[in-house]
Amino acid sequence: MDADLTLRAKEFASQDPFPMKGFGPAEWWVGNAFMTAQAFRALLGMQIVGYRGPETGVSDRSSYLLVSDQIQFIVTGAQDGDHEIAEHVKLHGPGVKDVGFLVPDAKAAFAMAVDNGALPERSPEVIENADGRMVIGAIHAYGDTVHSLIEIEGADPRFEIRTDTVARSAGLHAIDHVVANVELGKMNYWVEFYERIFAFTMLKHFDDDAISTEYTALMSKVMAGGSGVIKLPINEPAHGKKKSQIEEYLDFYKTPGVQHLALSTDDLQTTIADIHGRGIETIYVPSEYYPEARERLSDVELDWERIEQLSILVDQDDDGYLLQTFTKMLQDRPTVFFEFIERRGATGFGIGNFKALFESIEREQAKRGNL
Ligand code: FE2
Repeated sequence: MDADLTLRAKEFASQDPFPMKGFGPAEWWVGNAFMTAQAFRALLGMQIVGYRGPETGVSDRSSYLLVSDQIQFIVTGAQDGDHEIAEHVKLHGPGVKDVGFLVPDAKAAFAMAVDNGALPERSPEVIENADGRMVIGAIHAYGDTVHSLIEIEGADPRFEIRTDTVARSAGLHAIDHVVANVELGKMNYWVEFYERIFAFTMLKHFDDDAISTEYTALMSKVMAGGSGVIKLPINEPAHGKKKSQIEEYLDFYKTPGVQHLALSTDDLQTTIADIHGRGIETIYVPSEYYPEARERLSDVELDWERIEQLSILVDQDDDGYLLQTFTKMLQDRPTVFFEFIERRGATGFGIGNFKALFESIEREQAKRGNL
């Protein structure tokens, strides 16, 4: 690291060992960016606010920028079959290529990550136009996934601004957490990776006894960074009688990758009723779940009838409670999906729901013949 960058890295790390402001854009690499952008707009109520492609001087791809409050997705498709993006889609199916982090100083953050042993994917570059300025670099993470380190003022200068008068918000507010599935035996490697590269700390640890059903098990560790604004749970398959959902993911995605993105809302019941009406299916929760959930949360005033009707899961920890549910797959392969979450104080991830959730996922897995 040169002297100026060393100074900036020191300054950068003076408050927090690796300051981050929050999640930046999550970039999806897909077979048809136009259709995916339209689907996210119609089904999740996201606005299409930017475009880049052959018409704007970028000849190799078509890319749309979508937002819902603080959530930013980029969906990108290749113009040619032998392009890196097309190869990625051929191997993995549509998936999340880049989980971006917003940082106060992208050059210092990149230098520090590389100094800590990260493999660079792209050196930081400055991109600017009349609407905004950005410094962006990227490093490699699990599988073929990367993390962009992004410093931005104003609008994303890579995109031509679009105004969306069609999208109708579903109340989705922010990316709450992004979950990775990694290979058997690799959990601690990736825990150590986030500790070393980004000075993350382990927030929670669930072992295979906590997360098991009659048939399958998994382990999960939650890494957090940027003073808690970034939360990245990591799942590893554990030994069970049958194939776990994590193994099914790895069989179809072919490498580790993003399993789900959790999107927050201030009113989950309204959001779920809304997105069901748009055509998104969420997992089915059997009626036996609810008497037990009511007992667990007996001190919380909730509209249980509606919660059950919408198949919403409820959990509680020392800080409060949370409501959550999960979509079925939004692409052909059983790989990535969404969680929707409303936090009423709770900081956890719904450990009390894991068994009900995984049994529900296993019913879907069994229908696919992959259990
Ligand atoms: Fe989650």
